[in-house]
Amino acid sequence: MHAHRRRLARLLPLRRDRHLSPRRDDPGGRPRPVVHRLRRPRRDRLPRARTFLDRPPERRRPHGLRLRDPLLRGRRTRPPPAADGARRARPPPAGAAARTRAADRVPEVDRRPWPSLVAGGVVTGRFDGRVALVTGAGSGIGAACAARLGAEGAFVGALDLRAAGAKATAAAIRAHGGTAMALTCDVSDEKQVEEAVAALVASFGRVDVLHANAAALDREVYGRDRELDTLDVGVWDRTMEVNLRGALLMVKHTVPVMPDGGAIVLMSSVSGLVGDTVHAAYGASKSALIGFTRYVATAYGARGVRCNAVAPALVMTPTAQRALTPSQLADKAAERLLPWPCTVDDVANLVAFLASDESRCITGQTLVIDSGTLAHRPQHAIQRSRDHP
Ligand SMILES: NC(=O)c1ccc[n+]([C@@H]2O[C@H](COP(=O)([O-])OP(=O)(O)OC[C@H]3O[C@@H](n4cnc5c(N)ncnc54)[C@H](O)[C@@H]3O)[C@@H](O)[C@H]2O)c1
Repeated sequence: MHAHRRRLARLLPLRRDRHLSPRRDDPGGRPRPVVHRLRRPRRDRLPRARTFLDRPPERRRPHGLRLRDPLLRGRRTRPPPAADGARRARPPPAGAAARTRAADRVPEVDRRPWPSLVAGGVVTGRFDGRVALVTGAGSGIGAACAARLGAEGAFVGALDLRAAGAKATAAAIRAHGGTAMALTCDVSDEKQVEEAVAALVASFGRVDVLHANAAALDREVYGRDRELDTLDVGVWDRTMEVNLRGALLMVKHTVPVMPDGGAIVLMSSVSGLVGDTVHAAYGASKSALIGFTRYVATAYGARGVRCNAVAPALVMTPTAQRALTPSQLADKAAERLLPWPCTVDDVANLVAFLASDESRCITGQTLVIDSGTLAHRPQHAIQRSRDHP
């Protein structure tokens, strides 16, 4: 009998409940252990496993709840979609993993929000922990772009030929709670560029954003860039040296210190897209920058380095106001479709967009920012100024 039970126990290795049972033959004697087996339930007697889809729609569980169906048990269900249909924000990663690699290498700073230096706008922190180098940052558009990047969390290298301008921009960024260092450098001089980039990297460890904005716009160069038949070749050469070779040198020496990719924004102009009776050297240099943008984008795209250019029409900087006569300013106003000219803040907004991850799939492009100056035939403007003098 016991041998039979042992054999059965091997065949049906299910739950075995041992308990004591009184002996039938000797009810007053010592109880003996009895092994009871629970029988394996027969498969055809199990209730059919129902799936989610077996249920009538009104009994299906909403998203986000754990499903109890035997076939789906243990699987994760999708979180419920946001009520307004907007994309659900990812929960912030926890602990040390939350810090970006950039933030690991740059010095810790107080990340209190500070008002935008440019327009008093909302701080978004798009550049938190990133290092940005802006050339020609001592005045005008470059100063506004440096301030914008600094206001949004970047560590800024404000580079300019004029030490006073670079220092003033860096000091303004710092005064608003940002982090910036002034760099004095002639972008057309390779040794100076190398030293300036090395100084920035020594302080902040890397470069993530380059805005090559510097251009020779002084009276001696741009002011003498007049009719072609009387053009001084020295003016042509200096224009190319600063505007074009300067951009090349900045790209050449910053890309190697962009370890995790980066964003480059070159400064072109609508003068690089259309002809004019004057400023051929300036226009040719800005035109070449549009081509150069595509070459940089092509050369470094695989390394995650994007390169784009911006091409503004007249931006009312002090330099532009000094360079143009009142009648030229009136002509420019007549050419625009929109009543308002571009401001330095408008250009800074575009540069910040191209430098940020919001434009992560844009590279090799030149974006025109001109209040509609190039979007129509000149006749339109001429007619309009005739009709509404
Ligand atoms: N203002 C406009 O209407 C306008 C329109 C289209 C394009 N842009 C372009 O925008 C950029 C900025 O123009 P802006 O109006 O602000 O001029 P800006 O004169 O105010 O700024 C140019 C800055 O570049 C610096 N610089 C000049 N040569 C340099 C050099 N060799 N090395 C380092 N820095 C140097 C100057 O010191 C100055 O601070 C230029 O590239 C210009 O061509 C301006």
